[in-house]
Amino acid sequence: MAKESESHLKGRHVLLCVGGGIAAYKALELVRRLRDAGAEVQVAMTAGAQHFVTPLSFQALSGSPTRTSLWDSAAEASMGHIELARWADRIVIAPATADLLAKLANGFADDLVTTLCLATTAPISIAPAMNHRMWLHPATQANLATLRGRGVQVIGPEDGPLAEGESGPGRLSEPEDIVAGLLAANAATPATDNALKGLKVVVSAGPTYEDLDPVRYLGNRSSGKMGFAVAASARRRGAEVVLVAGPVHLPTPAGVKRVDVRSAAQMHEAVFAAFPADIYIGAAAVADYTPRAPAANKIKKSNESLALDLVRTPDILAEVAAQTQGLKLVVGFAAETENVAGYARGKLVAKRLDLIVANRVGVADGGFESDQNAMTAFWQDGERVFAPGPKTRLADELVDLIVERLDA
Ligand code: C5P
Repeated sequence: MAKESESHLKGRHVLLCVGGGIAAYKALELVRRLRDAGAEVQVAMTAGAQHFVTPLSFQALSGSPTRTSLWDSAAEASMGHIELARWADRIVIAPATADLLAKLANGFADDLVTTLCLATTAPISIAPAMNHRMWLHPATQANLATLRGRGVQVIGPEDGPLAEGESGPGRLSEPEDIVAGLLAANAATPATDNALKGLKVVVSAGPTYEDLDPVRYLGNRSSGKMGFAVAASARRRGAEVVLVAGPVHLPTPAGVKRVDVRSAAQMHEAVFAAFPADIYIGAAAVADYTPRAPAANKIKKSNESLALDLVRTPDILAEVAAQTQGLKLVVGFAAETENVAGYARGKLVAKRLDLIVANRVGVADGGFESDQNAMTAFWQDGERVFAPGPKTRLADELVDLIVERLDA
């Protein structure tokens, strides 16, 4: 990763804008990581950010005076704010607060950071961080959609514990992931062409929950992140996208039609209701078994052991692949703990798929709950190994491969 980072950020002018949130302390580490990758960094802070971290800390790490105000005549005399906006090859806003997103989406320029963002022609990347309810609020999501529509890169946020003792989506991405996101953006600015225009893509994502009784269920550790990233990527390539999502707390990608489901049976119904389609991507971790008859009331503990009577669920992917009518490409996923290639190729044939994407689960830093992944795609007479990295980048690369396989 370090080598790659050097090649893409070396000598680049990165203007880091720091917003006012507790995650501002992580932006200090980000400055170091950016400089380690060879970038020249200047920092601008909002007034709010200065309540959390001092300009001096950023100055010490960036090696340049930190900019804090539009009205600082000494700073303006050495490099005016328009000049600074022009100096930047890329602007990174981390942490980006809900307030900053709202201002940027609406073109405000009432302080230094917003003015810089309006005055620049450089690409902008934002790493949001905020309370999960603020993140999920329709106002914030609408602002994000506006910004994404203008080509702004959004990195994170992560799902997890938040400063206020709550948990949910809203944690600032780790500095190394922000750098990885910038590299991905620099290396291959995510394609926003129309390679999939006119095509309908149905994506399944996330786990399924199979109810045992009114309070308990059988579930799995799928986060849905990969499927959501693939849906977002296909949408950026011009496809009409329906995302059938199991129970996850992830924001809906811009422009994607989302159908929420809970069980394998519901997912089966929703997927087939979304057809006809041109491409099916089965990224969901569908339960293979479901209780034969969920109990109407809470199961009471009595005996020393309890046997569950489970029956097979429909194999959605195999059924989709069997009804090839109209479908141009069917893509499955295989999460394996061993013999990844062998099992994946077996499924490719058994389920009659066009493409299967395999990854190893049960290893550190990859698989189900992680934002990172390492995967290999197999098709009848070929395979492609994807370099390990963030799921968002892998999703873009997988959609590249899907576009290639459509033409093959
Ligand atoms: O055979 P296995 O469950 O490992 O295959 C995984 C692939 O099959 C995934 O793409 C998953 O979405 C799909 N699948 C399905 N319906 C099931 C089980 C798995 O669509 N009941």
